[in-house]
Amino acid sequence: MLLEENLEFGFELQREEVSRLKGPLAELLVAFREFGKTTQATETVATTFSGEQVRVPTYVNEFWTSKQRAANSLHEVSYRACFKPQLPRFFIKRLTGPDEVVYDPFMGRGTTVIEAGRLGRVPCGCDINPLSAALTRPRLHPPRLEQVTQRLREIDFSTVKEMREDLLVFYHPETLREICALKNYLLERKEAGQSDYIDDWIGMVAVNRLTGHSPGFFSVYTLPPNQAVSVKAQKQINETRGQEPPRRHVAEIIGRKSRQLLRDCGAGVRRVLSAVCDRAQLLTQHSAVTPQIASGSVSLVVTSPPFLDVVDYAADNWLRCWFIGVDPSSVRLTVPKQLEPWQLAMTEVLRESHRILRRGGHVAFEVGEVRGGKIKLEEAVVPCGVQVGLKPVLILINDQKFTKTANCWGVNNNAKGTNTNRVVVFRKGNRRERRERRDMSTNTNRVIAFRKHS
Ligand SMILES: C[S@@+](CC[C@H](N)C(=O)[O-])C[C@H]1O[C@@H](n2cnc3c(N)ncnc32)[C@H](O)[C@@H]1O
Repeated sequence: MLLEENLEFGFELQREEVSRLKGPLAELLVAFREFGKTTQATETVATTFSGEQVRVPTYVNEFWTSKQRAANSLHEVSYRACFKPQLPRFFIKRLTGPDEVVYDPFMGRGTTVIEAGRLGRVPCGCDINPLSAALTRPRLHPPRLEQVTQRLREIDFSTVKEMREDLLVFYHPETLREICALKNYLLERKEAGQSDYIDDWIGMVAVNRLTGHSPGFFSVYTLPPNQAVSVKAQKQINETRGQEPPRRHVAEIIGRKSRQLLRDCGAGVRRVLSAVCDRAQLLTQHSAVTPQIASGSVSLVVTSPPFLDVVDYAADNWLRCWFIGVDPSSVRLTVPKQLEPWQLAMTEVLRESHRILRRGGHVAFEVGEVRGGKIKLEEAVVPCGVQVGLKPVLILINDQKFTKTANCWGVNNNAKGTNTNRVVVFRKGNRRERRERRDMSTNTNRVIAFRKHS
């Protein structure tokens, strides 16, 4: 069978497994029984910007689950509204082969990018917040634990140039001194062009340990690590709980967390990562304009954009940004509160995704449930894809019971509105499909009302 006609095949599967795949992704989803449930098939009806109805086959099951074997420990950094590694893994394994490029235009903590590297795909990502690359890059080039502990011994944790006294609501004075010394060390090394992958790793771990709700963090008890509270709110927490920041040892905590992150990082994982990660491309910019990524170079986009106003990334990340020397108010996040501007922003990102995708490449675009399910973002994103020439192939709904642990790692789905993962899968058509589409649009010569609004 021609490749172009069977783009939903799982290219990565071993030869003997190929015979199991008798059809495109839709058929695989229908036949899916891995966690004991049968798939429900339904249909989502969406309306394009020119008013036409599009019927998209929709499949519901527990396609990935908390019962599955835990993901690689390298993923264990917290980030607000991150998805589980099982989500990108599901699509990467089924829709790409080794050495192909997998891209996430809203990279966050780098879940797609790290999983792509782990599976021997070339990782590519973009996020407008510099924090994202600072969290992701070091885990594509993980140092050895001995290198980390050696470097921690060499760093002078006592020389401080800038002490932010207001942060004493979070930290014991000696701990704050160590944090500020580490910050100065890392920024000075960077400015002098001297920092290396071990420094980057230490910075990434420190960012993750800044605040949290257990003795594994530098701070006194506060909210989970991905939700830094303001100084004022922390004062309140301290008063209510009658607490004072205890002494924590920064180097010790970084060493402990590094050990945990590197737990599953054996020779095999390192070999796979090093084979592809030198070709990794991580960008810090608006993902609607990414000229650094070559046209037609990407096989799969797996992503999850900001969902209307569900998460306040800027407020959540102010302390982390301070640590890496970034003014959070300078980060221009796309966080539209209304559906129409959200659709406009997503259309522009999908237009860019269409440019960089190879023919037959896919986009798996995850949207959660927002505003108690009143707004169906999966219906809202279908016209955005259609507008730029992507074909909506299907919608996958992962219906999963969330665990406490998942909440703690930022998949805070029950509290802030997301109960299921809804993934719209688009495909970039082959030559024939593109010609047909062009002919159709010339014939109908419609005025796209949506573009007028914008
Ligand atoms: C839902 S989070 C992505 C989480 C990611 N899937 C993960 O697992 O970590 C959305 C991300 O979009 C980023 N973002 C917001 N506006 C952006 C823009 N215009 N261009 C690129 N990234 C943007 C935010 O900084 C945030 O990291």
